[in-house]
Amino acid sequence: MEKKYISDRFKHILHGGDYNPDQWQDSPNVLSEDMRLMKLAGCNAMSVGIFAWAALEPREGEYDFSFLDKAMDDIYENGGRVILATPSGARPAWLSQKYPEVLRTNADRSKRLHGSRHNHCFSSPVYREKVANINRRLAERYKDHPALLMWHISNEYGGECHCEYCREAFRSFLKDKYKTLDALNHEWWTAFWAHTYTDWSQIEPPSTLGESSVQAMKLDWRRFVTHQTVDFMKAEIAAVREFTPTVPVTTNLMQQFGDTDARELGAACDIISWDSYPAWRGNDENDIVTDAGVAFWHDLFRSIKHRPFMLMESTPSHTNWKEYNKLKRPGQHALYSLQAVAHGSDTVQYFQWRKSRGATEQFHGAVVDHVGNEHTRVFREVASLGARLAKLDAIVGTATSCRTALLYDYDNDWALSYAAGFQNADKKVFETAKKHYFPLWKRGINTDVIGRDDDLSGYDLIVAPMLYTVPSALEDKLEEYVRNGGTLLCTYTTGMVNENGLCHLGGFPAGKLKEVFGIWNEEIDTLYPGEFNTAEVGGKEYRATDYCELLHLRGARALGTYTSDFYTGMPAVTVNTYGKGKAYYIAFRDAGDLTDELTGHILEECGITSDFDGTLPYGVTAHSRTDGETLFLFLENHATTPAVTQTAHTWHNVESGEAVTGEISLKPYEVLILARKVQ
Ligand code: GLA
Ligand code: ZN
Repeated sequence: MEKKYISDRFKHILHGGDYNPDQWQDSPNVLSEDMRLMKLAGCNAMSVGIFAWAALEPREGEYDFSFLDKAMDDIYENGGRVILATPSGARPAWLSQKYPEVLRTNADRSKRLHGSRHNHCFSSPVYREKVANINRRLAERYKDHPALLMWHISNEYGGECHCEYCREAFRSFLKDKYKTLDALNHEWWTAFWAHTYTDWSQIEPPSTLGESSVQAMKLDWRRFVTHQTVDFMKAEIAAVREFTPTVPVTTNLMQQFGDTDARELGAACDIISWDSYPAWRGNDENDIVTDAGVAFWHDLFRSIKHRPFMLMESTPSHTNWKEYNKLKRPGQHALYSLQAVAHGSDTVQYFQWRKSRGATEQFHGAVVDHVGNEHTRVFREVASLGARLAKLDAIVGTATSCRTALLYDYDNDWALSYAAGFQNADKKVFETAKKHYFPLWKRGINTDVIGRDDDLSGYDLIVAPMLYTVPSALEDKLEEYVRNGGTLLCTYTTGMVNENGLCHLGGFPAGKLKEVFGIWNEEIDTLYPGEFNTAEVGGKEYRATDYCELLHLRGARALGTYTSDFYTGMPAVTVNTYGKGKAYYIAFRDAGDLTDELTGHILEECGITSDFDGTLPYGVTAHSRTDGETLFLFLENHATTPAVTQTAHTWHNVESGEAVTGEISLKPYEVLILARKVQ
C-alpha cells in the first residue's frame, strides 16, 4: 500500500505550532531562546507569518522580510521546517484606510470598521490584488528556501460579506446555477408570499432587514459564501503556485458548521488541516463523550481526501476565548495528541508556541509561558510528547481502512436548521450524528465520516442519521448501495426534501427510499423538553424524546413499536431486506441506549469488528492505521481510572520495542501504540 505523505521532503510526524517572531522583533534574546526551546521540546515544524502582513508590508509597496528571513534560517538551522502562511487573515491599517472596500459589509448593510481579523470582503478586486501581491512576494522570496515545507493559506476562512460586489457575485452564482429566473422561482417556491422575481437584480441576499422566509435562498446563500470563499482561496493559491508549483497547500479548517462547507474548502487544497479546541469538562455528560466528538471531526477531516491530515492547531493546555478556560489535566495532552495520530493525523501542531505579551491572546495556552523557560508542567508534557512522536516515523503516511461510514453533511445540517417546523429551538443534527458515532467509537471501529457526494460503494455499513435532504443522485446511490448488499441505518426526518429544500411529493422518505426501507412516514410528532414517549424493541422498553414519527409498514418488519401516546402499536424501529442488503430505520429520537444496542447488533450482523481483539471497557478505545503489511494500533484510555484488557495476538510496542500479549494494563489517559504484521 503506497504511503501518502504530507510532504515527500520530510517524512516525520510534524510537531510544532503557530510561531509569531514578528511580535518579538525587538527581543533578540527571546528569539534565540525560542530556537533552544524548540529543540528541547522536540518541535520540528513551525507555522510562521499567519498574521504578519503589517510587519511584512509596513506601508503600501514597502516590504520588510527581515524577521521572516531570520525565522526561516533559524528554524532550518535547528532542524525544523516552516509551514509558511499567507497573511490575508488580517490586513494592515493602511490597507483598510486607503481602500475601505476591503472591509466587510454586514447583512444589515452597515460597513465594518478597520480592526480585528477575518474582516475582509472575499469579492473586493482591490483586496484580491493586494493579497495576490503579498503572496507572490513571499513565494518568490522563499521558493528555494530549504525550510519551506508547505503553505498555510490564510487562516480559518469564514464569515460573509454583503457589499455590492458580493451581492452581484451572488446573483451571478444563481444565474450559473439556475440559468433562468423561472427555474429559480420554481426551486425557491417563490409563489409563496408573492416572492416571484421578474429580474435578477431584484434578488438580495438573506438579511435581518429583508428576506428570511425562503429556505432555498438561505441555502443558496450558504453555498455561495462557500463558493466565494473557495474562489478567493484559489486566487491565493494560484499566486503562490506561480513560484512554488510543487509545494503543498493547506488551509486550517474548523469544525464549525454554521458558515462554510469545510469539505469544499478542503477539496481545493492538497492537504487537509483543522483546528481542534474541545471543551473538556464542558457540557457533555463526561470527557469520554467529548473525546469521541473530537474523533468524529478527525474522521471527517481525514475522509475528505482519504489520506493523512494535519492537526494544525490545538492548545498545549487551555484556551482563552471559552467562557471557562480549564487546564488540560496531566497526561491529557499526550492522549489528545496521539488520538489525532490514531485517526490519521501526521502532525501535532499547536496554537501557540509562545504566549504573546499583550492583546487578546496573551492568556491563551502555549508551549512557552510568560515565565519564558522550559521548567513548566506544560512544556514538560509537550517535550515528552515530542520525544514519543519522534519514534513514530513508520506510521507517517499510513492509511485508515474503514468498512463503516457515518454520513454527516453540512448542507443537510443547514437545510434542517433553516426548516421551520417540528422543533425549532435546536434540531440537534450534529448531536444526533455524535450519538450514532459514539457506539462505533467505543467499539473501536474505524469509521469514515463522509458527505453526500462521496462514493458509498466501498462500505459495508453506512449510518446516516437525520438525512433530511435527499437529492435524486443520493437517492439513487443509496438505493444502489443497499441493493448491492450494503447495510444502511437511517432515522426520523429522512428523505423529506430535495437539495433546495422542496418537499418530496408522494410520501416520505423520498422516492425509491420508500422501497429501500419498506416504510411510509406519514407524520412526525414533536415532544416538549422533558416529555418522553416509550417504545418496546426486542422486549425492552426505550424512551423517546423530541421526535416520534408515525410510520406505516410497506414491506419492512417492525423490530419494535410505540407503547405510549395515540400511536401506540405503530412501528418504532424497522428493518427491511432490499436486494442483497438491509435497511434499518429508527422512527424516534432515542433518549437512552437503543442507538448503541442496535448499532452493536448491526455491526455483528455485518461482521464488522475492531482491529483490536480484546474487550474495550467504557472509555477505552482502539483505532488503527496500516501500510498494508503492518497494522498500527492505538489503544487509548480516555477514562480517569486505570483499565485492563487482553489480547490473543502478539504485538510489539512501537515505542519500547517490547512484545505485548495477554493482559494489558492502561493507566488513566494512557495510549499504547502497538503493531503487528498482517501480511
Ligand atoms: C483559532 C485561530 C488562532 C487562534 C486560536 C485560539 O484557531 O486560528 O489564530 O486565535 O483560535 O484558540
Ligand atoms: Zn463584499
